[in-house]
Amino acid sequence: MSGLLSVRNLSLTFATDEGPVTAIDDVSVELAPGEVLGLVGESGSGKSVLAKSLMRLNAGNARYGAESRMILQADGQEIDILALKGAKQLRQVRGDKISMIFQEPMASFAPAITIGKQMVEQLMLHRGLTGAEAKMLSVEMLDRVGISEAAKRFDQYAFELSGGMRQRAMIAMALSTKPKLLIADEPTTALDVTIQAQVIDLMKEIVGEFGMGIIFITHDLGVIAQTADRVAVMYLGRIVEEGPVRDVIRRPAHPYTQGLINALPKLGDLDAPLTPVPGDIPSPLERPAGCVFHSRCPLAEPRCRVEVPLTRAMRPGHRAACHLNEGVKA
Ligand SMILES: Nc1ncnc2c1ncn2[C@@H]1O[C@H](COP(=O)(O)OP(=O)(O)OP(=O)(O)O)[C@@H](O)[C@H]1O
Ligand code: SF4
Ligand SMILES: [Mg+2]
Repeated sequence: MSGLLSVRNLSLTFATDEGPVTAIDDVSVELAPGEVLGLVGESGSGKSVLAKSLMRLNAGNARYGAESRMILQADGQEIDILALKGAKQLRQVRGDKISMIFQEPMASFAPAITIGKQMVEQLMLHRGLTGAEAKMLSVEMLDRVGISEAAKRFDQYAFELSGGMRQRAMIAMALSTKPKLLIADEPTTALDVTIQAQVIDLMKEIVGEFGMGIIFITHDLGVIAQTADRVAVMYLGRIVEEGPVRDVIRRPAHPYTQGLINALPKLGDLDAPLTPVPGDIPSPLERPAGCVFHSRCPLAEPRCRVEVPLTRAMRPGHRAACHLNEGVKA
């Protein structure tokens, strides 16, 4: 493998009192260094579970399918993520090679420890720097993400910062260890639109500079269009379509992706009604047989209720899983 990340046939089921909950169902996806992959899908589609799997952060009731493989290629090393055991090995994917930023930055900072102290501790643990080196780098990173008076902010607590500044501090902390892969789980939804655009610009700039890969998770296909090189559309634990972002948005090949695109506001025609995807995502305890989308699909045929559609290449690098694409040749 020549890329940064290769996920193959990943399946994950949670054991619950109500029965097994399939959160990820046979997902395969690749990421190259310097690439931004957008992961989009409605609430409950499995985006966060997929992200957490990469850091082995899922709850204790998570069971991986026997075929599941996740390989991270970093610094000439091939890391078999599911084979990692013990805190020392797991640290490789929890801060050394992979960092994650979350929707709510308060969750990333301990409330009673200054931002600077948390950054320094992390750098000493993951990069083996001395306290003085770690402080210098931390202030530099805070400055780098556009936080004014970085040396002063270094000594402040998370609650003393505004929402936008906290978000930037979290990005600075996630990037300071120079991970190979950054996972951003809905990092901008809590922000106002101007700050959201600044954060997205900042992340893009940093990817280019550090050559790291990014997985950018959001509900919002519009944000993905601005941010990502490629997009993977998830529905009930499956990737139903994946490809270069412009190609997928201009020529969506799966009815679910088409539904997400129709639900976006059209700036050229503000009077046009928004047409959301009809119905609700079913409970994962009642996963539909056949195509998982059939209960909401306006184009469903009788076979969709029984036959799982194959994933087919639509065009180079663009694939989708829908029976209607049968016969399409890439
Ligand atoms: N520990 C757990 N035990 C049982 N089910 C779980 C557990 N964690 C997650 N799930 C289920 O897995 C499914 C996928 O959840 P996930 O959080 O990945 O969705 P998501 O796509 O990130 O949604 P959102 O957009 O709301 O963040 C959901 O049905 C969720 O209820
Ligand atoms: S396989 Fe059938 S139900 Fe699924 S998306 Fe295609 S047409 Fe719709
Ligand atoms: Mg989530």
